[in-house]
Amino acid sequence: MCGIVAYIGHRQAAPIIIKGLKRLEYRGYDSAGISLLNGGLNVYKKVGKVSELETIVEGKSLESTIGIGHTRWATHGEPNDINAHPHISHSGNLSIIHNGIIENYASIKQDLENKGYSFKSETDTEVLVNFIESIKEERKCSLPKAVRLALNAVVGAYAIVVMTKEDENLLVAARKGSPLVVGIGDGEFFFASDATPIIEYTNEVVYLNDYEVAVIEDGELSLRDVKNVQKTPYIQTIEMELEAIEKGGFEHFMLKEIYEQPKSIKDCMRGRLNAEEGRLVMGGIREYANKLINTDKIVINACGTSWHAGLVSEYFIEEFCRIPVEVEYASEFRYRNPIINEGDIVFAISQSGETADTLAAIELAKSKGAVIFGVCNVVGSSIARSTHEGAYTHAGPEIGVASTKAFTAQLTVMFMIALKVAYRRGTIGESTYRNMLFEMERIPQKVEKALQLNEQIISIAEKFKDSRNFLYLGRGYNFPVALEGALKLKEISYIHAEGYPAAEMKHGPIALIDEDMPVVFIATKDSGYEKIVSNIQEVKARKGKVIAIVTEGDEEVSKIADYTIEVPDTLEPLMPLISVIPLQLLAYHIAIMRGCNVDQPRNLAKSVTVE
Ligand code: G6P
Repeated sequence: MCGIVAYIGHRQAAPIIIKGLKRLEYRGYDSAGISLLNGGLNVYKKVGKVSELETIVEGKSLESTIGIGHTRWATHGEPNDINAHPHISHSGNLSIIHNGIIENYASIKQDLENKGYSFKSETDTEVLVNFIESIKEERKCSLPKAVRLALNAVVGAYAIVVMTKEDENLLVAARKGSPLVVGIGDGEFFFASDATPIIEYTNEVVYLNDYEVAVIEDGELSLRDVKNVQKTPYIQTIEMELEAIEKGGFEHFMLKEIYEQPKSIKDCMRGRLNAEEGRLVMGGIREYANKLINTDKIVINACGTSWHAGLVSEYFIEEFCRIPVEVEYASEFRYRNPIINEGDIVFAISQSGETADTLAAIELAKSKGAVIFGVCNVVGSSIARSTHEGAYTHAGPEIGVASTKAFTAQLTVMFMIALKVAYRRGTIGESTYRNMLFEMERIPQKVEKALQLNEQIISIAEKFKDSRNFLYLGRGYNFPVALEGALKLKEISYIHAEGYPAAEMKHGPIALIDEDMPVVFIATKDSGYEKIVSNIQEVKARKGKVIAIVTEGDEEVSKIADYTIEVPDTLEPLMPLISVIPLQLLAYHIAIMRGCNVDQPRNLAKSVTVE
């Protein structure tokens, strides 16, 4: 949600910032802008993608070794040139970029207007920069102090970077609720919303904590909190390869990430699972392992695709561990009065580790004494840091807005945890445990095989690309997969799609079925197979068009469905890892055929740091 990049050092700032903004474009792409110091404070900003910004700066002198840049996902005010960041203060002395929401901006704005300030944009950010300026002028204090004082009075979330035209050796940044990373180079510093714009220059980083203010002044980094208490920067070395954040010959990040799944699932299991030796080690769950094993209730909090991973997890945790599980939309959980008692177990699943609602749900559960386990993909992310223990998914950076490899990695982690807990609780025996481990190890090669269905899926996509609606139906473990398939399609192709439990269809969606309604059934050979075959019959009887994901060698469904896509067989609880693959590809190809930008679908953002 909004991408921030800033640079101060000995190189030209503009190319570093613009390249960095492109790397962060997955966070938001309504507008983009950059501020540089060259013969004054110059701001260039434009509605649209970073490429639009590049067009307007072409031919301009961008000489400057300090600068701040931003790519926006609009919250206050529509996406237009004026609302784009950076924003400039009333006097023209300060420039700011901001990710987050200043909730009390209206009252601050009123006070400033009473003092004679006027505003060009509708944004809360322009209010903040003027608030900082007013404090700086009234108190006759330094910029870092004015930023600290302003932030003490602000309610909301922010990651900000501020520069002043009065000092080309000064940058001030701060965070609360929205992520901000400082990259430490040789005589140079970088700020960014995540490490991806930084790693080609340095792998030494400091993840700012909430309420911290970082100041780069005359080539030195210093850290204080908003109350002016000095902090020691904790420098970490990040392990991320540059190629992991590039397209590597694929046309889109989404396709690359779909194809990476055999590897990402393997990476997720590496060092943790060894079927031969019957070994399953979740290194990040130690201190609280016994609490988890002995709990009598688990609550899973997540949003979007991660919530779907939570739903699949509910099925296998209950099946193997015999522990009741509740799966909650974090945005709902946080605003009701959920029953969480001291010592209850809460899982938070999140690719980005930054989703505001999931973070707030964690804080609420923590305040009630719960033990929180995080399942995150982004190392060092806010959720990873705010949970008691957890496990990374190790899927590598996911850049396509529609989540794919993170989903299968989340399932892999949750499955391993469930298996371990079940084994320790004694709710599964040695042979089931071993059998599951062996099958888990075979999943990457089965996913690889499912990816070979690509050509067949392209031809099916061709037939249905102009449909206006889709229904996705599944039962048991494949019901959450139906939800995920529908979500993928609507996110990137803008076709309305609904996922439903197949049996529930007759209580409503069946009314929608006619010859123009494609229905995707996930009908692999499992305990609900016979039932889902009947559901397919019901759709066919009403002239619906059926696309069925079936197990290899299936003969029954192929007789009644219009199209069948055969995936490799596996154990029922593991099937979602395979049955979701054709659905990801189907959504991708339909979206491409409709001319949609699959990596940056309209209105969406990869990391939702506003509630
Ligand atoms: C956004 C993304 C989705 C993602 C959801 C939850 O909506 O576009 O792909 O599933 O947020 O994000 P998280 O990072 O918490 O998994």
